[in-house]
Amino acid sequence: MKTVHIGLLGFGVVGQGVWQLLQTNQEEISHQTDIKVTVKKILMRDPEKSRVLPAEDPRLTTSWQTILQDAEIDVIVELMGGIEPARQYITEALSAGKHVVTANKALLAQHGSELSRLAAHRGVQLRYEASVAGGIPVLQAIRESLCANRLTSIMGIVNGTTNYILSKMTREKTTYEEALAEAQVKGYAEADPTADVEGFDAAHKLTILASLGFQTTVDFSQVYREGIDRITPLDIEYASELGYVIKLLAIARDLEGKIELRVHPTMIAAGHPLASVQDAYNAVYIQGNAVGDLMFYGRGAGDLPTASAVMGDVLNVAHHRTNDHAPSYPLDYKPNGKKVQSMD
Ligand code: NDP
Ligand code: HSE
Repeated sequence: MKTVHIGLLGFGVVGQGVWQLLQTNQEEISHQTDIKVTVKKILMRDPEKSRVLPAEDPRLTTSWQTILQDAEIDVIVELMGGIEPARQYITEALSAGKHVVTANKALLAQHGSELSRLAAHRGVQLRYEASVAGGIPVLQAIRESLCANRLTSIMGIVNGTTNYILSKMTREKTTYEEALAEAQVKGYAEADPTADVEGFDAAHKLTILASLGFQTTVDFSQVYREGIDRITPLDIEYASELGYVIKLLAIARDLEGKIELRVHPTMIAAGHPLASVQDAYNAVYIQGNAVGDLMFYGRGAGDLPTASAVMGDVLNVAHHRTNDHAPSYPLDYKPNGKKVQSMD
């Protein structure tokens, strides 16, 4: 049996989810993959915070250098969020020849291209399944299972917080503020929920989806974006009277080489499969020229669903770490003639 030692950066909602998943499923994981995963060190910021491990646990540290310099750790799992110092730590980890798994879509949408290039240059893997749609393995599907297709459109409900808010406002007539507070308590919202409600988080995810789906480097600033912060109960009521529901949709379309990228509240006919996606569930609706229409559905946020995707990446890295044929997930493509259309 192979052993893989990981260094966890961040021990919040998702970091503790990874820890808990390993405690619960270690036996199944070893049995199915012949890999034993050990968490060697865990980086946190505030030693006083109450967590699933006692403060005196020797794995907990506030020193990134002790993790970076630990030669036994060969996979860094970044679950801190934000741009800095996550970018610096991932850059240093890749440069030191360590593989990296991250759920940080904000970072990937803005710096994924340079990090991808560095990983390829150093011959290590950078994987990020959890960065889009939480537990749904949609990036792997796009990158591997659907690679014989020309994708024409990717359309998704990819933000759990806003879908939770809109679902609650529609079904239970709660106020926007009450629904947001509940999403925060449940651990769906980002540290700063404006990233969710103003559509930045969905735009980050769309950048990643479009880049992989259309094999082109997408600049996050090219995504047209509107959030749900101006949606009122009256908008929801009128939409319902007309037979529609309001969802925050992330839409990427390849219109004969012109790429359209937009995130905005959208009226969806009540009978469409995306209309029935409730609470923090996500769904990604993909059209490919061979496969036709597909919909991926599941939990898009929360500790264990996200940990499931993170651990899938860790195990894939461990499985392929001595194998040159590991599938790559580049966010850094040479120009292929496709151009993003301005939507402003
Ligand atoms: P949390 O805010 O719950 O946890 C972040 C953790 O990172 C905390 O433990 C925090 O330490 C630590 N941290 C932050 N900055 C630093 C720093 N400078 N040095 C050391 N430790 C630091 O976030 P989540 O777990 O919710 O999210 C983590 C990542 O996963 C983000 O990129 C997020 O976008 C992504 N993600 C989250 C999902 C979710 O459902 N929550 C789903 C999919 C992706 P301390 O606890 O000491 O403050
Ligand atoms: N804040 C994000 C959401 C977490 O609500 O979808 C999952 O990426």
